[in-house]
Amino acid sequence: MDKVAIVTGSSSGIGFETALALAREGYHTYATMRDIRKGSKILDIAKKEDLKIEVVELDVNNESTIKKAVEKIVNEKNRIDVLVNNAGYFLVGCLEDLSIGDLKDQFETNFFGVVRTIQAVLPTMRSQKSGIIVNISSVAGRIGFPVTPGYISSKFALEGLSESMRYELFPFGIKTIIIEPGVIKTNLFATLKNTTKANSPYKEMADKVMKGLVMMSEMGTPPQEVAKTIIKAITSENPLPRYPVGNDAIMFLEAKKDKTDIEFENYIKKELFS
Ligand SMILES: NC(=O)c1ccc[n+]([C@@H]2O[C@H](COP(=O)([O-])OP(=O)(O)OC[C@H]3O[C@@H](n4cnc5c(N)ncnc54)[C@H](OP(=O)(O)O)[C@@H]3O)[C@@H](O)[C@H]2O)c1
Repeated sequence: MDKVAIVTGSSSGIGFETALALAREGYHTYATMRDIRKGSKILDIAKKEDLKIEVVELDVNNESTIKKAVEKIVNEKNRIDVLVNNAGYFLVGCLEDLSIGDLKDQFETNFFGVVRTIQAVLPTMRSQKSGIIVNISSVAGRIGFPVTPGYISSKFALEGLSESMRYELFPFGIKTIIIEPGVIKTNLFATLKNTTKANSPYKEMADKVMKGLVMMSEMGTPPQEVAKTIIKAITSENPLPRYPVGNDAIMFLEAKKDKTDIEFENYIKKELFS
């Protein structure tokens, strides 16, 4: 019987590499994406390597595409072993420069999109009494940071959701894993939505922080490292609640653990503003 995996946002970056890694691990992998015309590259690789990858339409903001995709998968395979909630985007702008609409859109994709997809797979995982749900959070889900409060809040919400559902799903044999990448070299920075206007009082701060982040992204950890960590996590007998990825993520999370709140705040201020 094929093991079955679903990945959201597989058109590029972490989702693309994770779908390939799962297929190379022997999973029949549904590489879902909102625009299936972007699926030709992964299908070419699958053909060359003889991998079981199917491209299926799934927009995490569109309930009916999720329902249709999950129905198709369950009809074909009658099981779902792994769901990787990866789809997301990066909203940039200080709080005063963000509209409620900008924030709602960010949560729609990065948080409610995950909720919708999880809710769609749970009946199948519950009835088979097994399954692994991998939520791609971020080091941004653990650490406040200026200029990206919308993105940070969506990832903090995802952390709270993941930590809570881990308890709820454990009695049904379903495991929940949070992945916390640092800065990864993907399209995330090229496709970000920046709400900072030229006359914003936060323009100087926003430009400085974003320059630093974009520079970090050029030297970022390759997305293959995230995929490797996901495989390690899902193949371990008792997966940990959280897996950071990248030296930057490990460094920030260790600093947060070792310092008081005010010491940590001073550390971030020194990194950013001195
Ligand atoms: N790169 C980093 O530094 C970093 C660090 C920590 C966490 N992450 C997280 O990693 C995840 C993947 O990002 P990435 O870095 O790999 O960036 P990416 O290359 O830009 O990939 C983002 C993916 O999400 C998809 N997507 C966006 N909105 C969607 C929607 N409504 N429905 C379905 N798919 C949607 C995109 O599809 P389209 O091609 O159609 O736009 C794309 O496939 C995100 O959740 C991000 O927050 C990234």
